[in-house]
Order: sequence, then C-alpha cells, then structure tokens
Amino acid sequence: MAPMREKIGVGLVGSQFISTIHAKALQSVADATIVAVASPTAGHAKDFAKEHGIPHHFTSLDQLLAMDAIDMVVIGAPNILHCEITLAAAKAGKHVVVEKPLCMNLAEADRMIEACRQAKVKLMYAEELCFTPKYVRLKQLLDEGALGKAVLLKQSEKHDGPHAAHFWDVERSGGGVTMDMGCHAIQFFRWLNGNTPIATVYAQMSTSVHAARTRGDDNAIIILEFANGVTAVAEESWTKLGGMDDRAEIHGSEGVAYADVLQGNSIQTYSQRGVGYAVEKAGSTTGWSFAMYEEIWNYGFPQEFAHFVDCVKHDKAPLVTGEDGRAVLEVIFAAYESAGSGRKVRMPFKTDVDKPYKLWKK
Ligand SMILES: NC(=O)c1ccc[n+]([C@@H]2O[C@H](COP(=O)([O-])OP(=O)(O)OC[C@H]3O[C@@H](n4cnc5c(N)ncnc54)[C@H](O)[C@@H]3O)[C@@H](O)[C@H]2O)c1
Repeated sequence: MAPMREKIGVGLVGSQFISTIHAKALQSVADATIVAVASPTAGHAKDFAKEHGIPHHFTSLDQLLAMDAIDMVVIGAPNILHCEITLAAAKAGKHVVVEKPLCMNLAEADRMIEACRQAKVKLMYAEELCFTPKYVRLKQLLDEGALGKAVLLKQSEKHDGPHAAHFWDVERSGGGVTMDMGCHAIQFFRWLNGNTPIATVYAQMSTSVHAARTRGDDNAIIILEFANGVTAVAEESWTKLGGMDDRAEIHGSEGVAYADVLQGNSIQTYSQRGVGYAVEKAGSTTGWSFAMYEEIWNYGFPQEFAHFVDCVKHDKAPLVTGEDGRAVLEVIFAAYESAGSGRKVRMPFKTDVDKPYKLWKK
C-alpha cells in the first residue's frame, strides 16, 4: 500500500443529521481533511459543502469514489445502504467508517468484512459510546478495580423518536428502537466487558405509542448474560419526551458508578421563552429544560474520528471494527428472536433472515 499522505482525505456519504456531526468532528482532527461529500438529493450535497467549506460535492457516489485524494469514506446514509456503499468503497480502495448499525443482516456483514479484507482497507464501526469521555472514565473505574468485580451493567438511550422516515420504515431500517439504539448498548457492554462472549439474550419489545407510524418496536428491554457471569440490561425507548437520555451504571462487588452523558453534563435551565437549542430531540424547552454544551465532544465524536484517522494514517487496528458491528447485529437478531418467541436465546445465534424485525413479527 502507498505511504499515507500528511492529511487523510475524507469523503462523506450523506449530508443530513449524522453527516453534520461527522463534518464537525472531522474538522477538529488535524490529520484529516474533508475532500468531498456525496448525497443523492439535488442541492443537499451542495448546501452541505458550502456550509462546511468542503471543496467538492456530488450527487453520485461513484464520482466521490473516483477521487484519488480520498483515502477514507464515512457512511452516514440509511441502514439499508451501508452494505452496498461499503462494497463500492472497498472496491475503490477506500478505508471505510460505517455508522451503526453495521448493516441489515449477517450475510451483508460477512460480505462487507470480506470485501474490506480482500481490498486491504480498514472497516471501522462508528460506535461513539466507546469514545464518550464520561464512559471512557467509567470503564477506567471498572478496569482499575475501584468497583470490584462487575455484577450488573446497565445502559439506556431514550428519546421521542427519530427525525427521518427511513428509521420508521422497517424495510429500510431493519427494526425499531432495538436496531437503532439497542446497538449502542450492546457494543457498549461488549467493550466494558472486554469482549467476553455473550451466553444468552432475552428481550421484551412493544410498539406502545407509535403503532400508526411504524411496525418496529418503540420500547425494548434487552438482557444479556455474559460467559463470565456479568448481566447487562439495556433499556431503549422512542417514546421518552423532553430530550435525549443516555445513561449507564456499573454495579460491582465493591462499588457502584452512575454516568449520565447528557443531563449529568448539562445546564439545568428554566426559561419562560424557551431555549433555541437545548439538546438532541429536546421538544418544548419552555420552563425547565437541560441545555447541553459541547454536545458532540461530550459524545466522543471528535475523539472517535481522531482515532479512526490515526488508524488509517499509521496502519493501526481500530478499537471498533466490522467484526464488532457483526457481533452486535447477531445480538440484535437474537433479541428480536427472543421477543418473538418469549424465550431466552442461546448464543451464538445463526440466521439467514434478511431483517431483524422479522424474527419478532413472524
Ligand atoms: N452514531 C449515532 O449516534 C447516530 C445518530 C444518528 C444516525 N446514525 C446512523 O447514521 C445513518 C444515517 O442517519 P441520519 O440520522 O444521518 O439520517 P438522515 O435521514 O438525517 O440522513 C441520511 C442521509 O443519507 C443520504 N442518502 C440517502 N440515500 C443515499 C444514497 N443512495 N447514497 C448516499 N447517500 C444517501 C440522504 O440524502 C441523507 O443525506 C443511519 O444508519 C443511522 O442509524 C447514527
């Protein structure tokens, strides 16, 4: 492989919610430069490029992939496109950062991993919770032994529902809140627990509030038993009003630790007029709300991209890979199977079903 240039050239795929975060995060990484953005809706890539000072914009992915100046592609497109964009990027010899969830099913995951292996490019799985400063510190407390032996891990993400239609359409997303936000908790638990194998998965799911909008789950509880005896509980919701929640707990044999990424780091605010922007999915901010500062930094996105760029520039192994994304997806399938059957599912879980929600709705 040719020696890497001084600044890693990045191509962004997508131009809306998460790509805006990618652009802001990458702009804080000294060793990276955003060369181009591609997004199919006419005008979107152009506006995005103008707003973020990106020199090139395309409506065609192929044009972006044809650019020699691009070393690494960052995929911020709907779940159903992650596999095909990864395969095209690998074929063009670009390293790949793919947003969560990795893709729609295990066969796609295998194809993505194999294509990147054959093309000798890195497949990096963008799970920012492994870089969230408060969670990194939480893991340090566990690793240094301050909490004794881990007994119970908890993590939850809750808001009042996604901002775009593709999330609500299970044919394009693959599933509801378990697919969309449960993936964060599952990788968070694997990372905290040193990638210990998962022995069983149990899940309970419902479509409690949004049945008119989706066939996916809008609330879920997922319980994992790890082979080392640790239990992990994820609570996920698309029906929680009043701003995004992101919290974790570690209950150990000699201690306990609580970490709240958003409310715990925010400014408790009372406003009769309301706050212009308080936090992701804040809803009404009249009266009491919590106003975040440095939200992207508090979530670990600049740290995540500094790491991925460093991996590409210096040929290092990424902290979170395509294999991690596949392992998370396997647990997601097992969770939908459990919610469908009412039974605890033993891992490993093999399935050739093309979308996780189908195991729940069979
Ligand atoms: N890590 C996180 O916390 C986080 C947060 C939000 C979204 N995500 C993930 O990021 C992905 C995108 O979500 P979003 O919230 O940005 O959605 P969005 O609807 O805000 O943006 C999706 C983008 O994909 C583009 N797109 C659609 N078809 C495309 C194609 N054929 N080629 C290239 N681009 C195409 C759209 O034009 C749009 O710019 C999803 O997989 C989602 O799960 C991750």
